[in-house]
Amino acid sequence: MINLLIMGKPGAGKGTQAKKILRHYHLAHISTGDIYREEMRKESPIGLIAKQYVSRGELVPDDMTNDIVEEVLHTHKYPNGFMLDGYPRTRAQAEALDCNLARLGLKLTAVINVDINDEVLMHRMAGRRVCPNCQATYHVANHPPQVPGICDVCGHELIQREDDKETSVLNRLRIYNKMTKPLIDYYREKGLLLVVDGDLPVNTVFKEICKGIEEK
Ligand code: AP5
Repeated sequence: MINLLIMGKPGAGKGTQAKKILRHYHLAHISTGDIYREEMRKESPIGLIAKQYVSRGELVPDDMTNDIVEEVLHTHKYPNGFMLDGYPRTRAQAEALDCNLARLGLKLTAVINVDINDEVLMHRMAGRRVCPNCQATYHVANHPPQVPGICDVCGHELIQREDDKETSVLNRLRIYNKMTKPLIDYYREKGLLLVVDGDLPVNTVFKEICKGIEEK
C-alpha cells in the first residue's frame, strides 16, 4: 500500500503529476480542489460556501475541509493506497490528517513537494485551460489540445478557471507562502519529504517522483 501526499505552489503541476502517479501505482485520488470544483458546479450548499473563497483565491475554512476529507477517508476503501492532492494546506489540516490516519491505522509513505519558481508559475496559470466535464488539464503553449479549445478526452469545450485570473493567482501565492509553505518543514522533520524540481518537463518530473517513491 502506498499513501502519498502531493504539495506545491498553485500551478506547480500537482494535478498533472497526480494523474500520472495514480495510473502508475493504481491509487485513489483525493483532491480537495477537485471536490470543491465539483460541489461548485452542482451549486450544492458546500459549493456555494466554497465559491466565496475559491474565486478570491482564498482557502476554504479548515473545519469544512477537514470534515470532507475525514468523510472520504473513512467511507472509501483504498486497496492499493491513495494520493492526497492539495490537502493539507495549513498546520491545522496537517494535524487533523495525522489524527485521521492514526484512527484508521494508516501511514503516509512520502510527501512530494513539487518546487517551481514564481515566474514559471505565472506563465503556467495564464495558459492553463481545463475541461469542466472530465477535469483534463491543458496549457495553450506547453500542452495544447489537438483542436484548440476542445478537450481531447471527451470533446467538451475548455475553460479558464475563475481563480486563474492574475489577481487571484497572486493572492493564492501569498496565502501559500504564509499558510502552506511551513508544512514543508513539518513533513521534513517526519522524514517523509521528497522534493522534485517542477520546472523540468512533465515526464522528467514524473520519473524523479517514481525514483523517490521507490527509494522510500
Ligand atoms: P487546487 O485545485 O488544489 O489549486 P492549487 O493548489 O492552486 O493548484 P492548481 O490546481 O492551480 O495547480 P496544480 O499544481 O495542480 O497544477 P497543474 O497540474 O494544473 O485548489 C483550488 C482552490 O480550492 C484553492 O485555491 C482553495 O480555495 C480551495 N481548496 C482546495 N484545497 C483546499 C484545502 N485543503 N483547504 C482550503 N481550501 C482548499 O498545472 C498547471 C499548468 O501547468 C497546466 O496548464 C499544466 O498543463 C502545466 N504544467 C504542469 N506541469 C508542467 C511541466 N512540468 N512543464 C510544463 N507545463 C506544466
